[in-house]
Amino acid sequence: MKKITKICCIGAGYVGGPTMSVIANKCPHIAVTVVDINEDRIAQWNTPNLDNLPIYEPGLKEIIRESRGKNLFFSTDVDKAIDEAQMIFISVNTPTKTYGKGKGQAADLKFVELCARNIAKVAKEDKIVVEKSTLPVRTAEAIKNILDHTGNGVVFEILSNPEFLAEGTAIDDLLNADRVLIGGDDTPAGKAAKNALSDIYENWLPKERILQTNVWSSELSKLVANAFLAQRVSSINSISALCEKTDANIAEISRAIGFDSRIGPKFLNASVGFGGSCFQKDILNLVYIARSFGLKEVADYWEQVIIMNDYQKRRFADHIIQSLYNTVSGKKIVLYGWAFKKDTNDTRESAAIHIADALMDERAEIVVYDPKVSEERIYADLDYLETRTPDENRTLLKVVSNPMEASREAHGIAVVTEWDEFKSYDWTKIYELMLKPAFIFDGRRILDTQNMRQIGFNYYKIGEA
Ligand code: UDX
Ligand code: UDX
Ligand code: ADP
Repeated sequence: MKKITKICCIGAGYVGGPTMSVIANKCPHIAVTVVDINEDRIAQWNTPNLDNLPIYEPGLKEIIRESRGKNLFFSTDVDKAIDEAQMIFISVNTPTKTYGKGKGQAADLKFVELCARNIAKVAKEDKIVVEKSTLPVRTAEAIKNILDHTGNGVVFEILSNPEFLAEGTAIDDLLNADRVLIGGDDTPAGKAAKNALSDIYENWLPKERILQTNVWSSELSKLVANAFLAQRVSSINSISALCEKTDANIAEISRAIGFDSRIGPKFLNASVGFGGSCFQKDILNLVYIARSFGLKEVADYWEQVIIMNDYQKRRFADHIIQSLYNTVSGKKIVLYGWAFKKDTNDTRESAAIHIADALMDERAEIVVYDPKVSEERIYADLDYLETRTPDENRTLLKVVSNPMEASREAHGIAVVTEWDEFKSYDWTKIYELMLKPAFIFDGRRILDTQNMRQIGFNYYKIGEA
């Protein structure tokens, strides 16, 4: 196996960008080139003003500042980077299919396949190909099939190296990963490839945190980890509905059960529902795979996690409508937050999209404020639903940059993302600006109940009566 001196990563997105930045930063002896077919995106990664990077992640800009131009490069010259690298990461998007067989459930692998074909076309020397995108099981096999039939004698080792970083904490998750998973063949060449990738991570992580498995286990572990995490959120959210009907308090329950070391305290925050690019997609994949093997009960079991999540989003929107005397037509409702969680500008599968959509169906006038999400992104999310025309979306929903001004003459404010800044707002001032009675719907449980009620708000917190 040749020494790894050059790495190429295809796909400069939420996964590829931060991951490669950290690898470059921690491995000054390796030149890392991140390539993408999207010229705008690459231009943004090369921006002199580090506040204009295409994704927002705490700590990312500092790392880019240190490494970019030294051993970290962003380029649109995909073929050149593939040709020069000994190791190639595939980190392109794998959205849920919107057409044909598996529509709405299976992952669309066309971008991955295009990458594999591109590597097959360009490569003249042996290479290690690492799948980094969130991929359904068997993808490594598909990539291998394409690469093994190039006829030019080049040997490829395919590894699965799933990404476990969470957005908003990506850099910290990469620097202090709980574990790194490397799946590959148990042949001598497969083991050598796994060790070569392990060597890279060992530049900053202890060896015992780097787990080697077969390809199937690695690919499936990624889906299962996300399914388990999402299941915790759906489980606690299901109990939040029960709490609202009783005198039980969801925070007290989370705390009480979290003390059981077998359960643990993390991921027990009731919310408007989980979002993000992974949870729903990975569960849908798991459901699709189970069903394709005839395991109906297994598929149904995991599908329920998504059904509960959809219920939670719908329940929140319905609660707003009911509270506002069963009609929100023509009423101004402000959404604080649009991102699927704090500290990211990513909005994929964000609960906010579905809550806004449900309220717009009732002809509410929606005003959105999010500290990091662009107006363009918000409209694109709504247009993608195809519930109404782009013109109607722009008439019914406005995006603003001043959260205080947004509250003027509003009937209600819904907190849908847990941005820290929302906690420090002058809520007395907001109360004065709003129409009375003034309603707050706290879908993230970040405000203080007693304080809000003292100010005069009609305050609803998810998971509390
Ligand atoms: C997730 C996994 O955590 C990560 O390991 C994987 O690599 C990608 O998918 P991410 O989607 O970026 O990461 O964020 P995460 O922090 O897991 O949150 C997902 C969603 O669940 C968010 O909408 C979040 O608000 C919600 N959530 C999380 C809750 O509602 N309650 C919780 O207690 C935790
Ligand atoms: C359980 C709770 O653990 C305890 O806190 C509560 O007070 C009573 O109910 P118990 O039923 O005595 O205790 O045993 P537990 O160890 O929880 O096991 C319950 C069942 O789950 C057993 O049949 C056990 O074999 C099974 N189990 C447990 C598994 O199959 N796999 C596991 O990983 C853990
Ligand atoms: P993720 O969250 O998985 O990183 P993103 O959508 O943020 O997903 O990023 C994936 C990136 O991969 C996009 O910027 C897209 O342009 C890029 N991409 C998709 N297909 C190819 C390809 N064949 N060659 C190069 N880049 C690609």
